[in-house]
Amino acid sequence: MIALLRRMFGVGGGTPQIAAAHPRDAAAIAALHAQSFHRGWSDEEVESLLVDGRVLAHSLRVGGAFAGFVLSRRAADEAEILSIAVARRHRGRGFARQLLNLHLGRLAALGVKALFLEVDESNAPAIALYRGAGFREVGKRPNYYPLPGGRTAAALVLRRDIA
Ligand SMILES: CC(C)(COP(=O)(O)OP(=O)(O)OC[C@H]1O[C@@H](n2cnc3c(N)ncnc32)[C@H](O)[C@@H]1OP(=O)(O)O)[C@@H](O)C(=O)NCCC(=O)NCCS
Repeated sequence: MIALLRRMFGVGGGTPQIAAAHPRDAAAIAALHAQSFHRGWSDEEVESLLVDGRVLAHSLRVGGAFAGFVLSRRAADEAEILSIAVARRHRGRGFARQLLNLHLGRLAALGVKALFLEVDESNAPAIALYRGAGFREVGKRPNYYPLPGGRTAAALVLRRDIA
């Protein structure tokens, strides 16, 4: 029913397109990051990542409008996924899975053999995304993420090897 309404009224509709992110995407990435995480990134922080030769970045557009991003940083033959987010209205439609798969393929082509990332242990959608992409838990950092009200959350450290 929801899919039918989306098709009828174009709500959240449009063709998804994934491409290498450009420094001009910095403001859109920073805005989506700020909506998605407790600690945001400034436009300048994102811009400096996008011009860093070790950083690989992809953006998602749906119907031409910016709708998501993924960023990783390489060091030798390893890489860390720094962040991934999809705009709220487009979540649950497989877009993060597509973004991550394409991104992992590009990292593999660049010679990356192992991938790491940290994720809040209570972030069920992200953990489902990463487990489905073959990441496994290799560590845990207690009290890693500061939360409002002085609370903290633990980070899981996940790893995936690329054969
Ligand atoms: C995590 C996030 C990127 C997922 O984006 P998405 O486009 O909704 O994800 P997809 O539709 O591609 O689904 C990916 C997987 O997660 C699962 N998933 C999606 N939303 C979920 C939810 N609310 N609860 C549990 N699992 C969920 C899907 O079932 C899917 O698993 P599968 O491929 O095994 O079926 C999105 O929720 C987001 O932007 N969150 C805020 C930013 C964030 O937390 N990023 C991760 C930081 S480490």
